[in-house]
Amino acid sequence: MDTYFTLFLVIFCAFFQLSRPFTVIMSDSGVPSTLIDGPQTGFSINKNGARTNPQEQDAVYDIMRATGNDWATDIPDVCRGRWHGIECMPDKDNVYHVVSLSFGALSDDTAFPTCDQTKSYLSESITKLPHLRTLFFYRCFTCNPQPIPKFLGQLGSTLQTLVLRENGHIGSIPAELGNLTRLRVLDLHKNNLNGSVPVSLGLITGLRSLDLSGNKLNGSIPAFSFPVLNVLDMSQNLLMGSIPFTLGSCQSLVKIDFSHNRLTGSIPDSFSGLKELILMDLSYNRLSGPFPTSLSSLTSLQALILKGNQMGSTAIPSDCFDGMKDLMILVLSNMNLHGPIPESLGRLNSLRVAYLDGNHFNGSIPSNFRDLKNVSELRLNDNHLTGPVPFGREMVWKMGRKLRLNNNSGLCYNANNGFEDAFDRGIGLCDAPKPGSARTVQHLSNSTNGDMTTTINVSAGAVRKTSVSVRLSQLASLFLFILLSLQGK
Ligand SMILES: *[C@@H]1O[C@H](CO)[C@@H](O)[C@H](O)[C@H]1NC(C)=O
Ligand SMILES: *[C@@H]1O[C@H](CO)[C@@H](O)[C@H](O)[C@H]1NC(C)=O
Ligand SMILES: *[C@@H]1O[C@H](CO)[C@@H](O)[C@H](O)[C@H]1NC(C)=O
Ligand SMILES: *[C@@H]1O[C@H](CO)[C@@H](O)[C@H](O)[C@H]1NC(C)=O
Ligand SMILES: *[C@@H]1O[C@H](CO)[C@@H](O)[C@H](O)[C@H]1NC(C)=O
Ligand SMILES: *[C@@H]1O[C@H](CO)[C@@H](O)[C@H](O)[C@H]1NC(C)=O
Ligand SMILES: *[C@@H]1O[C@H](CO)[C@@H](O)[C@H](O)[C@H]1NC(C)=O
Ligand SMILES: *[C@@H]1O[C@H](CO)[C@@H](O)[C@H](O)[C@H]1NC(C)=O
Repeated sequence: MDTYFTLFLVIFCAFFQLSRPFTVIMSDSGVPSTLIDGPQTGFSINKNGARTNPQEQDAVYDIMRATGNDWATDIPDVCRGRWHGIECMPDKDNVYHVVSLSFGALSDDTAFPTCDQTKSYLSESITKLPHLRTLFFYRCFTCNPQPIPKFLGQLGSTLQTLVLRENGHIGSIPAELGNLTRLRVLDLHKNNLNGSVPVSLGLITGLRSLDLSGNKLNGSIPAFSFPVLNVLDMSQNLLMGSIPFTLGSCQSLVKIDFSHNRLTGSIPDSFSGLKELILMDLSYNRLSGPFPTSLSSLTSLQALILKGNQMGSTAIPSDCFDGMKDLMILVLSNMNLHGPIPESLGRLNSLRVAYLDGNHFNGSIPSNFRDLKNVSELRLNDNHLTGPVPFGREMVWKMGRKLRLNNNSGLCYNANNGFEDAFDRGIGLCDAPKPGSARTVQHLSNSTNGDMTTTINVSAGAVRKTSVSVRLSQLASLFLFILLSLQGK
């Protein structure tokens, strides 16, 4: 049990919100899947004969009362009359010890005791459970906001998983949590925590997942270095300062999400060491250029999301993407990027979604973009691109409205591109129209200022092809991949 490291992932997938494509909850405790259903049979009680340790039993009664679950005090032996959310282990003397307590309706499949949100609190009796490995509270104290109690730091000798998710916790993260040196999972997602991230958390060297996202944490990110950390999520806070270069030594990272903060400076070169990284989301910060070429060595990266950082008139080196062989999702919208679209992007065979919109890319779309067979969504709109669109009929049809080209200074299409809605897309035909065709397209270029006026007459019967929505299954397969990658560890 100690060595077996299971993960369960809860994936919240918002199709049109790439900034927060998923959330990962990891647990090494087996919660909730290994929780025992209902009371045990008389047979196993007689055979086993184990009894719950009386001090721990009283502590559990206190904790249950504090969350409005007074019914539990009618159960004569809490480890024998088990409910979803309590887990016990017998020792060699046949005494049961409480190893896991969970509260809150996490999903439809789990039936942990819920909390009376108006008056629940975290009872200090938790410190009387010396064998506790997992403590899990979800949406418990929301209407009775309270700080995270410092006494949790006393569970340092055993606690491996501490999840206090969406509980409405206020105040700062107690430095005492740094005493929980055996912790593997620390999840304080979506509370109202303020103050800064305690430096003491750096003492928890066995940490595998650290999720502090969705709070009001300010100050800068401490110079952490966690050797076995897989998931680091500090998104949706008020964090400032630069990204510490020490994070480049967290070589087990698979997900790093610092999106929606106020981070400044450039992406550290040390990130080139994150060989296991699958997802990097640094969107909506204040990061500056130059464009991080160190990322080209991230050979496992599948999603790179940097949108909403004004990189400041910086160009992307042409071979920048050559190392990212597995990249599926690239989001570089609104970054003030200049110069040509790098050709190396057209060599990413796995690419599925690419947003390059709202920049100052100029020149033509690299001709090798026609080889991006798996792209289902491509945004090149609001740039200064010129020249012919390199896609064939099949790609245009497959992407449908998810191919966005509008508001570029001089893109045009050829007859073999298969555009039937060129007018809506705001692009004109490259060559002169054939007179007398059923559908005529006129393209007037004002050579004095480079602006273009496009007039298109489309015959009434023009068929607009419906785009096939493939995105759902593709994203799902990405998540599945991440799941499998994590479980392989
Ligand atoms: C926990 O950590 C704090 C400060 O980080 C320290 O003062 C305290 O002695 C530690 N021990 C316990 C049991 O909380
Ligand atoms: C955190 O918020 C509380 C109110 O919830 C406030 O009293 C306290 O001063 C804040 N602390 C910091 C460091 O911002
Ligand atoms: C964090 O915010 C509080 C007010 O909420 C402020 O007093 C404090 O100076 C801020 N800390 C930093 C490091 O900016
Ligand atoms: C492209 O997509 C197909 C079908 O989803 C898949 O079988 C193939 O492996 C993908 N190719 C690459 C290079 O990802
Ligand atoms: C693109 O813009 C840069 C200035 O940002 C300019 O030097 C370059 O010549 C332009 N390239 C093309 C093909 O227009
Ligand atoms: C066109 O794109 C540029 C950025 O390249 C943007 O500043 C401008 O607002 C866009 N125009 C329209 C009409 O959207
Ligand atoms: C071309 O643009 C210039 C400047 O905007 C304008 O004065 C002129 O009338 C335009 N010519 C045509 C043919 O639209
Ligand atoms: C396009 O339609 C307009 C009226 O809607 C007409 O005046 C014009 O002659 C047409 N142009 C062509 C090239 O058919």
